[in-house]
Amino acid sequence: MSVLILGATSRIAQQLAHRFGEAGHAIFVAARDADEAARIAADVAVRYRVPTASAGFDARAFEGHPAFVADVEAQLGALEVAIIAFGDMGAGPTADFADAHRVIDVNFTGAASIAEAVATVMEARGDGSIIGLTSVAGDRGRQSNYVYGSAKGAFGLYLQGLRNRLFSKGVHVMTVKLGFVDTRMTFGMETGLPVASPEAVSRALFRAWERREDALYYPRFWGGIMGVIKAIPERIFKRLSL
Ligand SMILES: NC(=O)c1ccc[n+]([C@@H]2O[C@H](COP(=O)([O-])OP(=O)(O)OC[C@H]3O[C@@H](n4cnc5c(N)ncnc54)[C@H](OP(=O)(O)O)[C@@H]3O)[C@@H](O)[C@H]2O)c1
Repeated sequence: MSVLILGATSRIAQQLAHRFGEAGHAIFVAARDADEAARIAADVAVRYRVPTASAGFDARAFEGHPAFVADVEAQLGALEVAIIAFGDMGAGPTADFADAHRVIDVNFTGAASIAEAVATVMEARGDGSIIGLTSVAGDRGRQSNYVYGSAKGAFGLYLQGLRNRLFSKGVHVMTVKLGFVDTRMTFGMETGLPVASPEAVSRALFRAWERREDALYYPRFWGGIMGVIKAIPERIFKRLSL
């Protein structure tokens, strides 16, 4: 049984490879940069003495996703867990639509495309977990990042539906809504709120997976913050600079 990590050059994804590797799982490392994926896989293999394999993977190469999943299973055996960790925050609302198009393609279409390919094989077996990394930005549209937020929010809704569809088939689907985490994505950002480490995220996610939770906010206080933000009426919210 193997664990597929998609978007493995992310520090969060690498820490997840460590958590599942140290628990004895075979790890398939997938990233746009195939050489870097191979390096990460070799590191996990040496540290935890588990079977690993790697390949290049592009979230936007939609047509190739079913064949990619077949190849992963051919190399490392039946997929037990697939973690969709890739993401693209883009340049923000002032950028041109090409940037927005890529952000939507990566965070929503690409994520849904690979989730569908994984769901097909897991549903047929009646076993497995699909874990999607999304963002608190997906809970409410804000002027500062609504393209990224809407793509992540759409992925969150997609995961809800997938969980609802696959529950009776024995497949677990977990949504992970992250607040600020110390990675390339947040480098140089003034957050004003505590920033989690990728290692802390990986430990919380691993524990939540062991308990087969449906959804997780991490850091957990973000569940409360977003509850308040979602409750602000639109006529007030539109006047705020968020
Ligand atoms: N950091 C935060 O505060 C935060 C908050 C909420 C949610 N998240 C989510 O957490 C996840 C991990 O992000 P991170 O913070 O670790 O940021 P990151 O270092 O920028 O990682 C993003 C990952 O996505 C990959 N990626 C981008 N476009 C891709 C594509 N077309 N195909 C395949 N992979 C692609 C990147 O690969 P390359 O190395 O090739 O660019 C990288 O591995 C993302 O889903 C992100 O949206 C992060």
